[in-house]
Amino acid sequence: MPTVFVTSATGSVGSALCQQLRALNWRVRAITRDPDSKSAQHLKALGVELIPGDWDDQDALRAGLTGCDKLFLCLLPDLSDFKKVPARAKTIAAIAKSSGVTQAVGLTTLGNFAVEEGTKPPPKYAPSPFFAQHFHAKKRVEQALIEGGFDHWTILRPGFFMANFLEPKINMGMGYAEIKENGTWTTSMTATSPLGLVDHVDIARFAVTAFQKPDLLHGRLLAVVSEELLVQEAFDQLAAAIGDSERSIKAKFMSDEECAKAQAEGSWRFFSSETCVRYMSDYTNLEELSDLIGGLTTFKKFFEREKEGVKETYHRK
Ligand SMILES: NC(=O)c1ccc[n+]([C@@H]2O[C@H](COP(=O)([O-])OP(=O)(O)OC[C@H]3O[C@@H](n4cnc5c(N)ncnc54)[C@H](OP(=O)(O)O)[C@@H]3O)[C@@H](O)[C@H]2O)c1
Repeated sequence: MPTVFVTSATGSVGSALCQQLRALNWRVRAITRDPDSKSAQHLKALGVELIPGDWDDQDALRAGLTGCDKLFLCLLPDLSDFKKVPARAKTIAAIAKSSGVTQAVGLTTLGNFAVEEGTKPPPKYAPSPFFAQHFHAKKRVEQALIEGGFDHWTILRPGFFMANFLEPKINMGMGYAEIKENGTWTTSMTATSPLGLVDHVDIARFAVTAFQKPDLLHGRLLAVVSEELLVQEAFDQLAAAIGDSERSIKAKFMSDEECAKAQAEGSWRFFSSETCVRYMSDYTNLEELSDLIGGLTTFKKFFEREKEGVKETYHRK
């Protein structure tokens, strides 16, 4: 049975991945800053070996990676220092390689297609300088795995997490809290641009597929979404899941001028002002994705599964 080293294991994708790998009876090691947290203890109960430490703790990383066959690399961005995370990725990749890891699966972002040289079709809008720096940092994380000397590597580039509409992610300061607080979402998307939504459990399923069949997804920069919906369609489904007839959720679409103004002000609220996100569906292939993992989670199904989260996030206080 292979052993997989999972970063961000207590996060949404990581915990789903740990659960799926343990269900296959694979061995899993996870680095966490707080082994006593509720999510870490949940992983421990599944049989995951917890390694106390953080992404800068090279001794902990070396101890955890020694004896592992595979690495799942998911690092949070640092929007105040775009050099920091790529450097971490490089260090972790080097430690993994020297510890005998032969396969790496990385998680970055769908937006990277907007700054990819030679992307087909070429991006219709360039990201703002700030957003471009974020994407380039994510690309350098990818590069760390691609150039890491592993026999197999795969990069998963997910779209917009369905979980962003629920706590805790709705509160992460990206402007999504407006949805629960005001029943609106001010967005640079348009009424006709499809939003690529992804279930974190599906992302984990892609990672498991890559780990189980290393040749199948080797060398791929895979755009990962579960369903594409117009923003208002998605909100109508969310409102139906909330099930309160007095409550609607309305998209407020920004004009190009409003987007340009917000960009000039240096908005860091992702999706609030970036016109490039309107065209991300140019890079997705839902048919291939569905074939790869045998069906994708619809937004409706996501809310059925997460009904407790919907209640917690949207019940009137
Ligand atoms: N939300 C979206 O729509 C979206 C779209 C595309 C891509 N992404 C990408 O998805 C990734 C986030 O994945 P997620 O949502 O599954 O994560 P998450 O739920 O936000 O969890 C964050 C994880 O990071 C770990 N962590 C944070 N700082 C750490 C540090 N210094 N050292 C060690 N561990 C640390 C935490 O572990 P402990 O607290 O246990 O240490 C936790 O497991 C990001 O890279 C983001 O850019 C998100």
